[in-house]
Amino acid sequence: MTIVTGVTVRVPAKINLQLAVGPPRADGYHSLVTVFHAVSLFDEVIAEPAGRDGVTVTGEGAARVPVGPDNLALRAVAALRQAVAGPAASRRASARVDPAGVHITIAKRIPVAAGLAGGSADAAAALVACNELWGGRLSQPHLLEAAARVGSDVAFALLGGTAVGRGRGERLTPALAPATRYHWVLAFADGHLSTPEVYAALDRLRTAGPANRAGRGERVPRDQPGPAEPGLDTGLMSALRSGDAGLVGRALSNDLQPAALSLFPALRKTLAAGLELGALGALVAGSGPTCVFLAASAERALDLAVSMSGAGVCRSVARVTGPVPGAVIVPPVK
Ligand code: C5P
Repeated sequence: MTIVTGVTVRVPAKINLQLAVGPPRADGYHSLVTVFHAVSLFDEVIAEPAGRDGVTVTGEGAARVPVGPDNLALRAVAALRQAVAGPAASRRASARVDPAGVHITIAKRIPVAAGLAGGSADAAAALVACNELWGGRLSQPHLLEAAARVGSDVAFALLGGTAVGRGRGERLTPALAPATRYHWVLAFADGHLSTPEVYAALDRLRTAGPANRAGRGERVPRDQPGPAEPGLDTGLMSALRSGDAGLVGRALSNDLQPAALSLFPALRKTLAAGLELGALGALVAGSGPTCVFLAASAERALDLAVSMSGAGVCRSVARVTGPVPGAVIVPPVK
């Protein structure tokens, strides 16, 4: 007999096919409209009963992940514990007794502080793993609510696929699109960007007069005096409905890109190289500094990945496809 004590969950990275950022809100967040897209670069998260809560991180960029209470996966465990104690939890007969604590082990392949929501992915995986460990008390809608309390991108990592995000990104609607598989190349940068710093840089660029921006070549997407409320790009949505990668490539957009470029100017060269090498579209992933390129096929993606790594414009590359599902439990090996 196999005794299973832990639950393993696999969770994807995300990119944003559109990221339209509005003005800062009273709570410091920015209202946004985004089209999230989950891609096949996965972290694996294991939750096991333990004497007290703790986390171990291994793999890509592990040293940069906090292992104290700031860790997003541990914050997700705390949010779930609070939610299962509340009225949202179903008192299922099968529910097991909560362990005193949970140890979370994160095997990272999604680079840290790269614009791919790796920390949010780990938080979503911890929610799914602990919910299973504790008897599956929360339904998906209640898990999504708990996720939204942990971070703006956590709910999407639960859902996966391609989805429109509103609010600060946590209000999700799955995108209606045919089952097209898109082939992407991710170019990982030699460096990191902090998401709050990139949003702050965008606010500064938008506040600066056009004269201050002249000569820096920064394309600031919204007109002065203040940014408009963001709207969904109907061109991108019809491109996604058509399943035509060429149209999708031309419709990619990211309001955070000028801010990321202002903080990490070398990314201009990376984006230009990918386009010269035949990408159908290129943009900075979320708050960066990873750059994303859309290829016409799996073969073109391989060519592009090989050429990009030879061009010396990034630290390393990965080929991924999307969309893929959100956080899923990996069945134990019998
Ligand atoms: O929600 P999350 O913790 O992932 O956000 C990280 C930071 O990114 C926030 O503290 C905020 O500075 C910025 N942010 C924002 N507006 C959003 C999402 C994130 O300003 N919609």
